[in-house]
Amino acid sequence: MAPTAAATPDLAAIRARLERVGHGHVLKFWDRLGVAERRALLGQIDRIDWAALPGLIDKYVKDKPVFALPDGVEPAPFFSADPTQGAAGGSDAAALRRSWDAGAARAAGEDLLRRGKVACFTVAGGQGSRLGYDGPKGCYPGGAITGRPLFQFFAEGILAAQRRYGAPIPWAIMTSPLNHDATVAFFGEHKHFGLDPAHVVYFPQGVMASFDRATGRLLMAAPGEIATNPDGHGGSITALHRSGTLDRLGEAGVEHVSYFQVDNPIVRVVDPAFLGLHAGAAGSGSSGEMSSKMIAKAYAEEKLGLFCRAGGKVQVIEYSDLPMERQRETLPDGSLRFLAGSVAVHAMSVEFLRRLNEDAAFDLPYHRADKKIACIDPDTGEPIEPREPNGVKLERFVFDALPMCRASIVLETLRREEFAPIKNAEGVDSPASSARIQTERAAAWLERIGVKVARNSTGEADCVIELSPLTACEAGDLERVEVRTNLPARIGSGERVVL
Ligand code: UD1
Repeated sequence: MAPTAAATPDLAAIRARLERVGHGHVLKFWDRLGVAERRALLGQIDRIDWAALPGLIDKYVKDKPVFALPDGVEPAPFFSADPTQGAAGGSDAAALRRSWDAGAARAAGEDLLRRGKVACFTVAGGQGSRLGYDGPKGCYPGGAITGRPLFQFFAEGILAAQRRYGAPIPWAIMTSPLNHDATVAFFGEHKHFGLDPAHVVYFPQGVMASFDRATGRLLMAAPGEIATNPDGHGGSITALHRSGTLDRLGEAGVEHVSYFQVDNPIVRVVDPAFLGLHAGAAGSGSSGEMSSKMIAKAYAEEKLGLFCRAGGKVQVIEYSDLPMERQRETLPDGSLRFLAGSVAVHAMSVEFLRRLNEDAAFDLPYHRADKKIACIDPDTGEPIEPREPNGVKLERFVFDALPMCRASIVLETLRREEFAPIKNAEGVDSPASSARIQTERAAAWLERIGVKVARNSTGEADCVIELSPLTACEAGDLERVEVRTNLPARIGSGERVVL
């Protein structure tokens, strides 16, 4: 069927506008397109800020921006995982560590949870390309024995907290246009893992056009489609607002959002002590706007963002941006000076998120990533499957909002307790390494209450244990009578146990 004229009302003007900024190729195959393709392409064109595009391309694509290390950058102070360990010791490291009143912080966080003031927020819009998994990453089987999907771990953590605190915990899930429908369908198929569907909100994040690395021109995914990529988890701040989710949470009485990534099955979806500290309990000095969790980096080259402070403000500097010689700096006791690695867990107040969205000048910087991007040849329309990076993706990072807080705090947590991410198919941060950490964590918790766990000659648990957050979200949960009576007395060598 021939395309109707109605789909092309002001084509000449659009063509002239695109040509003026060097992107006339976007309409090169217009005559070949059907009605639906034309409409979709016009929609894409309409959503692009063409006036801002040349500046963006000059700054980030033609020029490879060099990260400017802020003057006087230093490691950020943090509240110690052991709350009794404070600034007393005299060494530099001790000065960064702060003691705190864990009881008061936990009580304040539990009070927020009991009053229904907390929602969870998962950023699940990433493409998971490093893992080589096709579906939404949250559907990935993160449970070593049952294949429990990552989303189920989080859902069970939320269910457990709802039961404990007797109040709903709404869950906002940011998808991308690429995985939105599949994510929603997955939750439907699994009956929302027992959660009330009225309390689960999904919304897709925004996208950004992808660029040709050599010319800076927009890449075309197909003759009628500009290549795009999700605009980074930093896009979540505007997407929360534009989707109406922020208003919805506010109307439900939510004051704080517990933010976490989709890749970590043992994340504490809500951590009362962290929420309490964030909200300013026990004189933490927090503004209650945006706070973060860290772990001690295991070695200088570990790929974690680093909590730093410059100009009195806490910020994260990505591992790729802080020069390696700085990351290798040590203190007199041999420990890393820049120790605080980000586990990408934050608490953010609804008020702070509103303030950013209402500020016309609010803008997060872009970060460039050079990637292999499937596209078409702009002259012939032939598909191209690149073997080398041919494109540039621009993404925003949520932690760039940290310096916009009046005051921001960082809480240390223990790697074995809360960090077992699945990012790569093999090696570090893989399904296998995550399963090991999950087992070690469960083994340590079980041994604490007298369960015998077989260990090999190197001291590792010689079994596989998959622990549901419905059974325990923290060690103390195993002491509850109803849980304890169902636990085995021992777990032998080679056993595979689901608890
Ligand atoms: C991230 C952090 C790093 C931190 C580490 C901890 C960045 C740039 N780096 O690294 O500081 O130490 O985790 O595990 O974030 N996502 C979206 N939309 C997007 C892009 C990503 O929702 O457009 C989500 C992903 O689904 C995922 C999370 O953001 O849940 C992290 O993205 P990823 O690119 O995998 O970050 P990492 O390099 O693993």
